[in-house]
Amino acid sequence: MFFAQKYGYLHKNFSFAIRRVSCVTLHSMAAPAVITLPVPKYTKLFINGEFVDSVSGRTFETLDPRTGDAITSVAEATKEDVDEAVKAARKAFDHGPWPRMPGSERARILNKYADLVEQHLEELARLETLDNGKPLAACRAGDIPSCVKALRYYAGYADKIHGLTLKMSGEYQGYTLQEPIGVVGQIIPWNYPLSMFFYKISPALACGCTVVIKPAEQTPLTALYAAQLGKEAGIPAGVLNVLSGFGETAGAAISSHMGIDKIAFTGSTEVGRRIMEAAAKSNLKPVMLELGGKSPLIVMDDADVEEAVNLAHRAAYSNMGQICCAGTRIFVQEGIHDEFVKKAVERARQQVLGDPFMPGVQQGPQVDKAQFDKILKYIELGKREQANLLIGGKCWGDKGFYVEPTIFSDVQDNMKIAQDEIFGPVMSILKFKTVEEVIERGNKTIYGLAAGIVTKNINVANRLSRSLRAGVIWINCYLVTDMDAPFGGYKMSGIGRERSLCGLESYMQVKSVICPVYESPWL
Ligand code: NAI
Ligand code: MG
Repeated sequence: MFFAQKYGYLHKNFSFAIRRVSCVTLHSMAAPAVITLPVPKYTKLFINGEFVDSVSGRTFETLDPRTGDAITSVAEATKEDVDEAVKAARKAFDHGPWPRMPGSERARILNKYADLVEQHLEELARLETLDNGKPLAACRAGDIPSCVKALRYYAGYADKIHGLTLKMSGEYQGYTLQEPIGVVGQIIPWNYPLSMFFYKISPALACGCTVVIKPAEQTPLTALYAAQLGKEAGIPAGVLNVLSGFGETAGAAISSHMGIDKIAFTGSTEVGRRIMEAAAKSNLKPVMLELGGKSPLIVMDDADVEEAVNLAHRAAYSNMGQICCAGTRIFVQEGIHDEFVKKAVERARQQVLGDPFMPGVQQGPQVDKAQFDKILKYIELGKREQANLLIGGKCWGDKGFYVEPTIFSDVQDNMKIAQDEIFGPVMSILKFKTVEEVIERGNKTIYGLAAGIVTKNINVANRLSRSLRAGVIWINCYLVTDMDAPFGGYKMSGIGRERSLCGLESYMQVKSVICPVYESPWL
């Protein structure tokens, strides 16, 4: 891979076979495809409008999940670099033009940023596939366009931020100002690296905050590239700072920093708790947490079995199962249970695994060895707990971090595989009899991020959607997200809501301004 860096584009005669899970036969492409790998251009920290080395001079390798080999080295931020970034962001907020300029001007710059992301879509998509392992087609059609949407959505809000006029009791009147909260620390995960980056920065920038953001150590490349595009769009120095680095060092320094006014995090529930503790122990900065999930998808007897199986398949296996709101507990009503199980196995068998750069590949590798090991460990646990392993259960191929799409049936609520977030292509199928029963069992985890319902009965759909404790309910669909729909968790799936006006408001604070209508009785 270093060859690629040194000599420009690497053209590799690719002979990796595409193969269907648990088939003995290998399905090779008719002709070997030529894969052009992107070359990372930006590998340093982005502080105060410039790419710089880390204070310590340290770097770390980011790996290609297809092989486990290094792609390149990037600068590693530690506490000293966080201090520098916060100093720049603080100055940009306290004295710089960004929070003071008309909202229409911020909107113009954010729209230009969106245009630049759109113009670089192909390069960003390739870089994302290389660093993360997700299918290139998904990056082109989903991940990168969603970044453009986030920027344009919040650019649209930038000049429409209003307060209220207050008709107070007594001889006073007042109004409220919606003010940007200040310097914002943002820590993001690796499952949607660039989408998460833009979901986080767009509302914060739109309302006039300045940002210090840390991408996940597994996937720093697209965020650093995006920093350059932000600069080209005209975002002033210090407004957007991007620090590649690790959680326990750079991430912890951000969450405990006295110069940061708010923290927004997406990732594991365990780290969310640590971030909240750090915020509490430092300056009591408010936290927004978007955490894990173990979402139920409930399939009623009246569903079309084929359609429900397709939905469940996508709910469980999209993005290699690395989605916080993945549907992983598939509750199927007893009347169609056996047929559903049979068809779900047939459907999983059709899943095309392979190199994520290859056309037609639906499932690439997991992001890294740690996730790969964690998933295989849970599969072993499922077997030990006497769940019925119907398909998959093993790694796939002879290199990289691929895991076969896996289905367990006869899963019981108290099993680990029904309680913990596995974050991999593992579907658990659970049988149920009545609506009352599935409400209780659907809610029986510490999480509450999402839930899905498949039924033709509107009364059942309404009843379930009001009784399930989750931040998003999908009826006869799944994983449908939009900038206009608030997203966030009940229970231990998180605090606060992102996207929509809720997302913007979470980066603002309200100030009341009060004065006498006539003469002041105070003077
Ligand atoms: P993680 O929660 O450790 O990582 C997410 C981000 O938090 C990364 O940028 C990381 O550097 C940072 N971080 C880690 N420790 C930190 C600390 N002490 N202070 C501040 N920031 C810190 O997640 P990880 O280890 O990558 O994955 C473990 C599990 O977490 C996954 O298997 C999955 O179950 C869950 N997860 C959930 C995600 C979601 O979208 N809700 C995304 C990623 C992981
Ligand atoms: Mg990587």
